[in-house]
Amino acid sequence: MNLILLGPPGAGKGTQAERIASLYGIPHISTGDIFRENLRKGTELGLEAKGYMDRGELVPDDLVIKIVKDRLEAPDCCEGFILDGFPRTVAQADALGAMLAKAGTPIDHVLNIQVPDEVVVARLTARRTCGACGSVCHLLYDPPQKDGVCDECGGELYCRDDDGEETVRARLEEYKEKTQPLIDYYRREGRLRDIDGGAEPDEVFEAVRSVVEAGT
Ligand code: AP5
Repeated sequence: MNLILLGPPGAGKGTQAERIASLYGIPHISTGDIFRENLRKGTELGLEAKGYMDRGELVPDDLVIKIVKDRLEAPDCCEGFILDGFPRTVAQADALGAMLAKAGTPIDHVLNIQVPDEVVVARLTARRTCGACGSVCHLLYDPPQKDGVCDECGGELYCRDDDGEETVRARLEEYKEKTQPLIDYYRREGRLRDIDGGAEPDEVFEAVRSVVEAGT
């Protein structure tokens, strides 16, 4: 099963992708996580991506396409994958289409998780991410049991550098200009399914499941 999660920053793509990955046993591939992991390790890729991420801009297509191509060739993707945060431009979608056509593995569903801008701002400015395991929580909607400590692994929680309000609004603008056109791109191909991302995470997951399990 090959899935793409589309949606603005903070739509809940990562939250839902984790659940889908664990239910169906397929890898969750987040290009944002790959960049953050590279940044933690101090690689050239991480350092190059950081400037763009901190400004709320997209990283250039050629860098992103290469890392996704390499990742999709890994053996754990042979039964399927969930792409979270890729593609984000028409050029990325075209490149992905070419990679998958070559491999003979089409996209099954593109899930478009929709939430209004003000919900995005409220979610991201109070999101906390675990520096050790990458889990996310929310100070109001899903607070950690102990301040600053991850419920999952006891790691330290931090606020992502790009989760300040000004950067979140810049990310939203970038999304509208460069990523929103993909909604029509995939709708024309008949693969797009809209999901209301404003509901509770469990309800959103039920909606995702029913779309995925209903087939095409
Ligand atoms: P990336 O890491 O992909 O960020 P994003 O797409 O902006 O998405 P987020 O991770 O912020 O949000 P999410 O939708 O996963 O929401 P989450 O589940 O965490 O990208 C970061 C940067 O990397 C980009 O700006 C760009 O620079 C670069 N980049 C990455 N991919 C790229 C690409 N393909 N091309 C170019 N550049 C690229 O949830 C958010 C919060 O809400 C959490 O606190 C969560 O607990 C809470 N929450 C989740 N669901 C619900 C719910 N239903 N109700 C209430 N709260 C909820």
